[in-house]
Amino acid sequence: MAVSSAPGKVYLFGEHAVVYGEPAVPCAIELRARVGVEKRDDSKLRVHAEDLSLDGFTVEYGGPTDGHPDIDASESLVSAAMGYVDGAIEQVRDVTGEDDVGFDVTIESDIPLGAGIGSSAAVVVAAIDAAARELGVTLETDELAERAYRTEYEVQDGQASRADTFCSATGGAVRVEGDDCRPIEAPDLPIVIGFDGGAGDTGELVAGVRNLREEYEFAADTVETIGDVVRQGEEVLADGDVAEIGRLMNFNHGLLSALGVSSRSLDTMVWSARDAGAYGAKLTGAGGGGCIVALDPTDETETALSFTPGCEKAFRAELADEGVKQLE
Ligand code: PMV
Repeated sequence: MAVSSAPGKVYLFGEHAVVYGEPAVPCAIELRARVGVEKRDDSKLRVHAEDLSLDGFTVEYGGPTDGHPDIDASESLVSAAMGYVDGAIEQVRDVTGEDDVGFDVTIESDIPLGAGIGSSAAVVVAAIDAAARELGVTLETDELAERAYRTEYEVQDGQASRADTFCSATGGAVRVEGDDCRPIEAPDLPIVIGFDGGAGDTGELVAGVRNLREEYEFAADTVETIGDVVRQGEEVLADGDVAEIGRLMNFNHGLLSALGVSSRSLDTMVWSARDAGAYGAKLTGAGGGGCIVALDPTDETETALSFTPGCEKAFRAELADEGVKQLE
């Protein structure tokens, strides 16, 4: 049995614009998915998941083409998670050449699904790392990140950037622009997260921005302006000026809102954080619902968010310096 964990992330800057070649800066946080993998005697894949913000469940099926017979269709997030595990195992079969190998996979995650803080990337990264090690292969971080990206790319029908998976594999703050992914300097940020209990549909939200961009030149300009905010944000991160990082996050949220990817609950949480004195606040990830990220070294934002209608959970998250970790 091999067990790996990988962190989730918040976007400090640049989601959506990264899809069109602008840079983005995600930053890994100490909320982790842990994936245990044990080789089977047959070629089946059996997945047991607990704590995926839904009741624990077990599903067993013969292989990628057999579908997921034991999953209730209403649990679409859970079946999405299964798609990611399937894809991850396919990458491991490919990289090791063991085409018919089967596994028992156990997933535990602290990261809410589809909420913009990198649950799928963390599961994919940890699953690939653990399954490869279970077969005696230790992947270099770059290879792991690339395989994890390919998994997301396939599961999300081509709508994926390298940001989430690279960040989860390496940890820390990273800069992603097209194929170019690298770690960058960032100060220890006082991150507070507000979660509305929901999730956005990434594919739909990405398509919405694509349509707007095609229809209106000023929407295309908005995407480019997000790129400008990211470039400025990188410099400010290197200087360690947390108050200025917050101001740029506010600006970034306004631009995302103009592109139609915020929601009432996300905006309410953002304003609640700002009113409580946060340096800045923005949605993180695809939007539509899910999480906001705010910067506040005091307890004020966390307290204010916990009383904000529509905010189901508010919590502080430490920056995760370490990416994927081998637990067993
Ligand atoms: O919601 P998440 O964490 O999957 O982030 C999506 C970020 C997008 O830029 C909207 C899409 C992508 O793959 O980069």
